[in-house]
Amino acid sequence: MNIFIDSPMSNDARRKELYAGSIFFHKPCSGSIKLCDLARKLTEEVFKPFDPRKIQESMPAERVAEILAVLKPKFIHHVKSKEFIQEMLGELGCDLGKTYFDVPRMRTAFPGDYLKSGIAYAFHPHRDTWYSAPFCQINWWMPMYPINAENCMAIHPRYWSQPLRNGSSQYNYYKWNLESRQTAAQHVKSDTRIQPKPEEPVELDPQFRLICKPGDVYQFSAAQLHSTVPNTSDLTRYSIDFRTVHLDDVWSRTGAPNIDSACTGTTMVDYLRGTDLSHLPPEAIALYEDGTETVYKNPATAQVITNEVAS
Ligand SMILES: [Fe+2]
Repeated sequence: MNIFIDSPMSNDARRKELYAGSIFFHKPCSGSIKLCDLARKLTEEVFKPFDPRKIQESMPAERVAEILAVLKPKFIHHVKSKEFIQEMLGELGCDLGKTYFDVPRMRTAFPGDYLKSGIAYAFHPHRDTWYSAPFCQINWWMPMYPINAENCMAIHPRYWSQPLRNGSSQYNYYKWNLESRQTAAQHVKSDTRIQPKPEEPVELDPQFRLICKPGDVYQFSAAQLHSTVPNTSDLTRYSIDFRTVHLDDVWSRTGAPNIDSACTGTTMVDYLRGTDLSHLPPEAIALYEDGTETVYKNPATAQVITNEVAS
């Protein structure tokens, strides 16, 4: 497991490293700066005249949740958001004809217990692969404002090769989309939606907290265990993340190893091609639809999946 800073490595070689647990950190480029600028502009508009990082001092959590429920989708589906991601991917050596991305998410982590469920969910330690992400998915993460060690995200490298008992066998992405996602803003003080969580104590240390600035972006595999750092600062953290897959790896089912994921359904339906925003071919999505990728990657979960699919 290595951490590469501004590496000139080719994208093919970089993905291999990412599938082996490495992390890639990139300095600001034109697309990443524009994406952050757009996100900050939209955020500052809705919280005017307050500083978005101190909004918890001026508004009740319920009102902030209502505002975020409008702001976040606006950013996610903004035509410029996609444009700036395309620009960023091109600048960072990705082949846009074969790189597919999903729409960017805006995340918030408020200080203390102010608001940490629903629309501002404070993520417990998880792998995205517990949430039906394919093992070739690569996550891209960037802060919108300067962050520090008290209001960032953490990666827990111990679990790259150590399985963790978890609830992913109960998770199906299609079912989640139908039943739970739309209600995020209603969960202000607690979140009753069933999500795949660790089912045994997690040793959070050692952990990486990459402290970077707006415009910086880092990449890590969807199979990395990661979590929201409890925000003990007095500033709300705003960040952006999105995900990519590469067509060659989708077809060949190349990616990180699966050591403990057993979910069904797939997020493959979400990715858009870097050139024209078209979806992946249906035959490629079908390779991931029934959970056989997790079986393929980890024969130990085969029985679990077979039972899940059968029931
Ligand atoms: Fe995640």
